[in-house]
Amino acid sequence: MTIRILSTSPLVGPALLRLGERFPELAVAPFRSGAWQEGLASAQALVVMLSEPLTAEDLARAPRLQAIGTYSVGVNHLPLEACMARGIRVVNTPGVLTDATADLALGMLLSLSRRLREGEDLARSGTWPGWAPDQLLGTSLAGRTCAILGAGAIGKAFARRVSALGMRPAFWAREAGAGPVDFGLGTAPRLPLEELLPQAAVLSLHCPLTAETRGLLGQTQLLRLPQGAFVVNTARGGILDEEAAIRLLHQGVLGGVALDVFEGEPLINPAWFTAPRTVLQPHLGSATRETREAMAELLCGGIEETLGGKLG
Ligand code: DGY
Repeated sequence: MTIRILSTSPLVGPALLRLGERFPELAVAPFRSGAWQEGLASAQALVVMLSEPLTAEDLARAPRLQAIGTYSVGVNHLPLEACMARGIRVVNTPGVLTDATADLALGMLLSLSRRLREGEDLARSGTWPGWAPDQLLGTSLAGRTCAILGAGAIGKAFARRVSALGMRPAFWAREAGAGPVDFGLGTAPRLPLEELLPQAAVLSLHCPLTAETRGLLGQTQLLRLPQGAFVVNTARGGILDEEAAIRLLHQGVLGGVALDVFEGEPLINPAWFTAPRTVLQPHLGSATRETREAMAELLCGGIEETLGGKLG
C-alpha cells in the first residue's frame, strides 16, 4: 500500500484513528525503522514526537511531503529552514498544553521550596522521629520575585500561578519591546536579563530552544541570581548549562534545581542523581490525558486540513 500519512507512534485518544479512517493510507512505524524509511518515499504527511530529530536529509527522501506534524509545541527538533524552502507545513500543538505545563512547573517549584522529596523519604523511612521545630525547613515564596524567561502562553500561565502564591512575576522575553507584560491577572515588568536575575528568588524557563536561547543560562548568568535561588526548567534542555547548575548546587549557591527536560534526553547526566536539592521528571510537561488528547486533535486536524479533506 502506498503510504500517505506516516506516524512514528499511536497518539492518545481517537484523533489519529479518525484520521486513518479518512485516509486509510496511514501507517505507524517507529522512527528510523526500515518501514519508516520506506514510507518516506510516498508520505505526504509525517507525524513525529519531540524526541525524534528529523533532518533535511530525511526531507530530501520524502519528495511528496506536504506537512509535518509534531506531537509537541516545541519545534526545535525539526529542520525548519528546509521545511520553509520546500513549502512544507509544520503543525505543532500550541495553546492546548499551556495549563498542563504551567501546572507541572508550579508543582516542581513547590516540591523544591517545601522539600517534598525529602519529606516523602522521611515519612516512608520508618525512622521519622516525630514533629520537630526545625525539621526539613523550606523557603517561603510569598513576596518574592519570580523571574520568568519567555512571555508566551506558558510563561504567562506560570505567572498567574505564582502570583496566586503571592509572588511578584517579572519577565525576560526574546521579543523586542520594553513594555510590561499583561499576564491575565495583571501586568509584570519586562526586564533585561542582567537586571532581572539579581532580584529573582525563583527563575523559571518558558522559552523555546533556538539559536538565541541555547546556552542562555550559563555560569555567569546563574551567578547573578541571589544566593539560594531556585531554578525550574520545563522548557528545553540546552537553554540551561547543566554542568554549571550542578556545580553551583554542590557549592550551595543555588537553592535547588527542578528539571523536566534535559540536554540529550532521554539520557540524563548521572551527576544529577547525586546533586543536592533537585527534582527530576521525565519530560512530563504536557502529560495529562486531556492535554494529550487535545494535542492529537489539533495535530490531526492540521494534517487533515493540509491534505485537503474534512474529518467525518
Ligand atoms: C512540548 O510539547 O514541546 C513540551 O515540551 C511538552 O512538555
